[in-house]
Amino acid sequence: MSTKTPGLRCAALIAFLACMLACGGGSNTTVNTPPPTPQTLRQAATAHGINVGAAADSQYLSDSGYATVLGSEYSQLQAENEMKFGIIHPGVSTYDFTGGDALVAFAQSHTMAVRGHTLVWHNEVPTWVTSGGYTAPQLSTILQDHITTVMQHYAGKVYGWDVVNEAFNDDGTLRDTIWYDQPGIGLAGLKTLYIEQALNWAHAADPSAKLYYNDYNAEPLDAKSDAIYAMAKDFKTRGVPLDGIGFQLHIDLTFDNPATLASLTSNFQRFAALGLELHITELDIRLQDSSSASLAAQAKLYGEIAAICVQQPSCKVFQTWGFTDKYSWIPGAFPGWGWALPFDANYQKKPAYTSILNAL
Ligand code: G3I
Repeated sequence: MSTKTPGLRCAALIAFLACMLACGGGSNTTVNTPPPTPQTLRQAATAHGINVGAAADSQYLSDSGYATVLGSEYSQLQAENEMKFGIIHPGVSTYDFTGGDALVAFAQSHTMAVRGHTLVWHNEVPTWVTSGGYTAPQLSTILQDHITTVMQHYAGKVYGWDVVNEAFNDDGTLRDTIWYDQPGIGLAGLKTLYIEQALNWAHAADPSAKLYYNDYNAEPLDAKSDAIYAMAKDFKTRGVPLDGIGFQLHIDLTFDNPATLASLTSNFQRFAALGLELHITELDIRLQDSSSASLAAQAKLYGEIAAICVQQPSCKVFQTWGFTDKYSWIPGAFPGWGWALPFDANYQKKPAYTSILNAL
């Protein structure tokens, strides 16, 4: 015998019917389950159409911790060094694709995109070029051969290239380099014409590859970003093949102020308005200690930059320069500094990791 009173029975029936209506009851029930929370940077970034990348080096792929994190957390890799001129083209008629090929094979086996770095740079030019006594016409031939051979080797495997890297000084003038004016490839004094030439050679070598200009200290509005913007605008106006700009973002915590972040956002907007892709290519945030306060401040800044990328539809790449503090160029280049990346030296996720994941 039921102990419920008729009144309670009635209330229970009303509650049951209300629930059936609210829940869409009956046999045709629609369950509104929330989308799964992304578990990796890769899952989170993919939802925004962003490649989340890391610079990598093939010598570390045998380190299982390194390979596991790289292959699971990232959707893109870029050779930190192994596609640079001096390594990939060490002799006049010698190409060595060993390291780059190993990175490409790893990427393919983990369904990752590969971004190429870099074809025209004042650094890492091998001695056979710098001490060869070559004339400008000879250097022109050497550079075109280099661009063509490397890009055709990786055609269909590397989706895009930093064709020209760091061609400007911080004051917006062009850097004096072997490729520009010392002696250059025959276009010395003609401003960005040698960059245009390199882009045209690159497009001819692999018409399906995306072509980028990449630089540092050009993230906020400043003399260098003004000069790059003027070049990009000119190139887009005249149909020179340029698909986007790489913003390196090797920074420290002084970058974290509202004016600088607003300037970065504005800079991104003006390049996006030209129809260019924006890639964050070499982000790292160096610290002078690993205190929890410093790691928290670093995490905040990582999150702010990731959010700026997410909010700018033309920002297609969010990439760090390495991913583990175990292997980073920072301590060697900035004595006393380090701890710059989202994973610590034991592959543990730092606060920066969580902050990026939350922003993506
Ligand atoms: O491979 C040799 C090794 O055989 C030798 O024993 C050792 C001795 O010093 O040097 C090794 O080469 C070093 C190479 O990194 C690989 O570790 C070079 O000396 C060293 O100069 C080189 O530094 C790289 C630097 O570019 C110059 O190419 C850094 O790893 C790399 O992080 C850095 O990356 C650049 C980007 O390409 C462009 N933007 C700035 C960024 C940071 O400087």
